[in-house]
Amino acid sequence: MKIVKTSDSRISSIDFSNLPFGRIFSDHMLECHYKDEEWLEPIIKPYGPISMYPGTQVLHYGQSIFEGMKVFKNRDNELLFFRPKENFKRLNRSAIRLSIPEIPEEIFFNGMKELLRLDHVWCKAEDGYSLYVRPFIYSSSEWIKASAGDEFTFMIITTPTINYYTGAIDLVIEQNFSRATRGGVGHIKAAGNYAASFYPTKIANSKGFTQVIWTDSKEHKYIEESGTMNIWFRIGDKLITPSLSDSILGGVTRDSILELAIDEGIEVEERDISVSEIVEASNNNLLLEAFGTGTAVSVVAVQSITLNNDKMFIPQQLNPYSMLLKKRLQDIQYGRVDDNFNWTIKI
Ligand code: COI
Repeated sequence: MKIVKTSDSRISSIDFSNLPFGRIFSDHMLECHYKDEEWLEPIIKPYGPISMYPGTQVLHYGQSIFEGMKVFKNRDNELLFFRPKENFKRLNRSAIRLSIPEIPEEIFFNGMKELLRLDHVWCKAEDGYSLYVRPFIYSSSEWIKASAGDEFTFMIITTPTINYYTGAIDLVIEQNFSRATRGGVGHIKAAGNYAASFYPTKIANSKGFTQVIWTDSKEHKYIEESGTMNIWFRIGDKLITPSLSDSILGGVTRDSILELAIDEGIEVEERDISVSEIVEASNNNLLLEAFGTGTAVSVVAVQSITLNNDKMFIPQQLNPYSMLLKKRLQDIQYGRVDDNFNWTIKI
């Protein structure tokens, strides 16, 4: 792998107390091209613009996928990567579905390790900080025929982060627009899924909601996800989350919370959850918690859910599951406790 180091690090100019999510990028990036049916040697170089012709396929048809992963620093200043193999596998599942060539394991992991070694100072060893890692692949063929490209670019960039949301969030149940359909691409991280969500989200934001709750596209009856997160409800003492399907993205944080909840002895159900079940639970004072999970947000509590014009307030718990599970997750991520699940990889 070729490595070109920057001679002019930007780190001293960064205000680490003010990090809007995904706005500040670390000094280096990885770039790797696919041509003549093979992935070529990757290069790590200073973070900077990429050039492309206006006829580049991705600009027209959106043949593009990405991942979101996080690295944390423990008290010994060592980098701990959280479950990167899961993201690697999901990136290649996304690749297959969007007719993109799969990225080989050595390119992904060796490139990632070199990049993180080079930019490790961008990850602060303080509570709340992490380095968000964004691998992505797009079609770089200069060809506007409406079919899969034959040249691709794989890149990794990283961005230092603190919190995605600063407090509990307000959600609204979306009953007109859909994020994903059966047989579609909702279960993979296709760039276009996010583009399609911006308009409904903007409308929800303009009405004072933080995010929408996506429902099934056929009947808008069953809950699927919220914003870019998986969603969880505590009804009585039970924790319930929608079971995975081809219209729900299987989050790595979702999977981790599921395992942690089971380990805590919490009764967990993965199944269909209808909007009416949530309304009924709320009316009967049984909707005790709701929260979202995702790599970027970690675990975030929901304080209200609105359906049409009715707002359901979620009562504050003394010992919420969301806090317990978030603490257990973050203790592992920051290396504060033994990682009995073997989730972290030291770099
Ligand atoms: C993540 O949690 O990594 C996401 O995918 C959210 C991102 C689109 C901001």
